[in-house]
Amino acid sequence: MNLAAVDLALIGGTGVYRLAALENVETHQPQTAYGEPSGPVRIGQWAGKRVAFLARHGEGHSIPPHKINYRANLAALKALGASRVLALNTVGGISERCGPRALVLADQIIDYTWGRVSTLCEEPGSEVLHVDFGEPYSTGLRRALLAAGVAAGVELVGTGCYGATQGPRLETRAEIARMRRDGCDLVGMTGMPEAGLARELGLEYASLGIVANWAAGAGPDPDEIITMEEVLANVDAAMQQVPRLIQTLLQAL
Ligand code: HPA
Repeated sequence: MNLAAVDLALIGGTGVYRLAALENVETHQPQTAYGEPSGPVRIGQWAGKRVAFLARHGEGHSIPPHKINYRANLAALKALGASRVLALNTVGGISERCGPRALVLADQIIDYTWGRVSTLCEEPGSEVLHVDFGEPYSTGLRRALLAAGVAAGVELVGTGCYGATQGPRLETRAEIARMRRDGCDLVGMTGMPEAGLARELGLEYASLGIVANWAAGAGPDPDEIITMEEVLANVDAAMQQVPRLIQTLLQAL
């Protein structure tokens, strides 16, 4: 197994199951102390850098958000040599600046999920860590992404609060209204516990939110029904810009 350091690991969310830009791809099926990751980790070359990719829901989108083995996914990426992780998160937009197809670099999180294994400190004999999480995302990686956005001409919303919900159902309008009052700009189902576990593992971790739809009741038509077709069409459209952003980031790493 080639254990050369990985310059950047990407975790793909709903609608992002492969990275076409990767060349000379090796496929790894790592086992971890926490079990199996969502699927194979594919590692290849991109812009002269070593890049890993893992589809968070599995390559056939078969794993719902609350069943994802977040610990195994991150531990596998770390074991394969990654220290930097960029999570792609398909999200709903709550605040006006986060409409469909926007790309958002969240800087805060509120966690509304429940019943998920959210720490590495559950194993018998493991030391309990109370990691600092005041800034939940890596400042350095966020800064590098913002600079890459400017250099690549890809517009990014540079801040935002990500509200993590349990899913897999979408939210009620009352839930989204409450999240708006709480200060959430985005809603998604996979941002936590992933970000917290990344911090426990000492990974540099940031999230690129890809806005697929207005969250329930948040858009101009409050009666709008969110469909999977709309979600996937908007993710596809927004993803047109993402390879350029990542390539520019890789060139700067
Ligand atoms: N809510 C939660 N998660 C999502 C949404 C949403 O509206 N859209 C895409 N992921």
